[in-house]
Amino acid sequence: LPTGTDLLAEIDRLRRERNAVILGHYYQKPEIQDLADFVGDSLDLSRKAAATDADVIAFCGVRFMAETAKILSPDKTVILPDMDAGCSLEDSCPPEQFAAFRAQHPDHIALTYINCSTEVKALSDIIVTSSSAEKILSQLPADQKVIFGPDRNLGGYLMRKTGRDMLLWPGVCIVHEAFSETELLKLKAQHPNAPVAAHPECPAIILDHADYVGSTSGILSYASEFPGDTLIVATEPHIIHQMEKALPNKNFIGAPGADGNCNCNICPYMALNTLEKLYIALRDLSPRIEIEEGLRVKAKVSLDRMLAMAS
Ligand code: 13P
Ligand code: SF4
Repeated sequence: LPTGTDLLAEIDRLRRERNAVILGHYYQKPEIQDLADFVGDSLDLSRKAAATDADVIAFCGVRFMAETAKILSPDKTVILPDMDAGCSLEDSCPPEQFAAFRAQHPDHIALTYINCSTEVKALSDIIVTSSSAEKILSQLPADQKVIFGPDRNLGGYLMRKTGRDMLLWPGVCIVHEAFSETELLKLKAQHPNAPVAAHPECPAIILDHADYVGSTSGILSYASEFPGDTLIVATEPHIIHQMEKALPNKNFIGAPGADGNCNCNICPYMALNTLEKLYIALRDLSPRIEIEEGLRVKAKVSLDRMLAMAS
């Protein structure tokens, strides 16, 4: 880029010229959250992507999120600033292995976390997000057998919360797996009145210490109403940006990893997106998400069920 390029002004110019909407996840860098037209959790972002009348969706999140946007809005151009922005949950669940697992359990339906590939969505019956999973699960008949993947922590949390048995795929989010119970207990001892808000992608050993468990938007709602002045936040720490903007007089502390701070919990995939890459993506309309039509139509069935059952 020519030195002195005003990235914010250029992104604004291109967003108007291209009739683009910039969607951002709460785990994006603050400068991206601040310029996005809409920031949200996975369910909010799917709904926005399905409903927008923009010509271009610039997705500042990870690849499965941008693919979800393309599945739901095939006529739009969907761009992702960095095509390498993957997800450890997606990586943990190769479609061939998931298909074989399903074939071993033909009497089970597959309820699948949105953090997976388009191929796995196409192999699934109903998609869920962390904010919609419980509501969707409660609509299934009690005797319906269920496979839940790829996040065993979210699956385990749902099983404990609802008392329902499910067959779990053994995937994890590397970010939420990195919290340390020992360090969290030390932090709690330093702030004995601070509640803990945690994402259900955390292992049970962390969730056991949580006062609130929910999706990123759920955690943000809790942050605006929790008792006291300090909150410990056990999810990707970039979400704290929204909390500090909305509640500048409160104190938000990221839950620690084994090294005692929260930097090891930054999502390396989300962090690949930068203002510069967003600018280039808007300028070149690339990297662009393309999905083979037969696959897209199959994946849309399970996503549409989610949108209908979550509403
Ligand atoms: P939500 O924003 O839906 O809570 O998802 C969290 C996450 O890990 C996204 O990758
Ligand atoms: Fe995937 Fe975890 Fe990163 Fe979310 S935070 S994109 S689940 S690796």
